[in-house]
Amino acid sequence: MIQVIDIRKTYRVGKIEIAALQGISFEIKEGEFISITGPSGSGKSTLMHILGCLDRPSSGKLFLDDMEVGKLKDNALAEIRNRKIGFVFQQFNLLSRSTSLRNVELPLIYAGVNRRERAERARIALERVEMAHRLYHRPNELSGGERQRIAIARALVTNPSLVLADEPTGNLDSKTGEGILELFQKLHLQGHTLIVVTHEIYVSGYAQRIIHLKDGLIEQDEIRNRT
Ligand SMILES: Nc1ncnc2c1ncn2[C@@H]1O[C@H](COP(=O)(O)OP(=O)(O)OP(=O)(O)O)[C@@H](O)[C@H]1O
Ligand SMILES: [Mg+2]
Repeated sequence: MIQVIDIRKTYRVGKIEIAALQGISFEIKEGEFISITGPSGSGKSTLMHILGCLDRPSSGKLFLDDMEVGKLKDNALAEIRNRKIGFVFQQFNLLSRSTSLRNVELPLIYAGVNRRERAERARIALERVEMAHRLYHRPNELSGGERQRIAIARALVTNPSLVLADEPTGNLDSKTGEGILELFQKLHLQGHTLIVVTHEIYVSGYAQRIIHLKDGLIEQDEIRNRT
């Protein structure tokens, strides 16, 4: 479903070059739940931005559903991103003046879905994250864990083939974080393909496969036997 072939990313800051990714290759099958771990600065977020088509690699190839992403123009890339990928961020990135329902509807507005269908699909996504009782709350009227659930509903509402999360539990206490991870596990069992970036060990414990990065390279790619 996703193929990453010798991806490199070099950032240039003034005269200094930073080789954030130095040749990364792997494949992701539909329905996998992968955690990407590694120390700070190892290239996790850089890789996730490339997988999410938010940024382009300096070299190497990325195939998404057999389509070579590197060949697409910016607007085509943006469309792929809207249609196929759902994002969850550490800081939730919700619109502070908008209700849960409105926040979750947002990707559907971009996708040109009509009002009635938008409301219906947003409501279903909010039910899936157990937030049906908070449809009209605004982010500042919600707890951190609840905000992250709203953000997850927003990521799911377009029915993306891939959900990417960068440190989704980073702003949550460990108990609330575990609730979010259990939700990811439920989504995995329902067939979603998930990639969760984290540097916390307990987070990667929920995944089925752990890709460990170090200095911009894959140090270990481990499939776990879950009991
Ligand atoms: N936009 C940028 N411009 C220049 N250098 C960058 C940029 N983004 C990241 N880097 C550098 O690339 C390297 C990898 O950064 P990245 O954000 O991918 O690390 P990370 O593994 O996500 O770390 P953390 O766990 O702290 O989030 C770091 O050395 C960082 O300083
Ligand atoms: Mg990061």
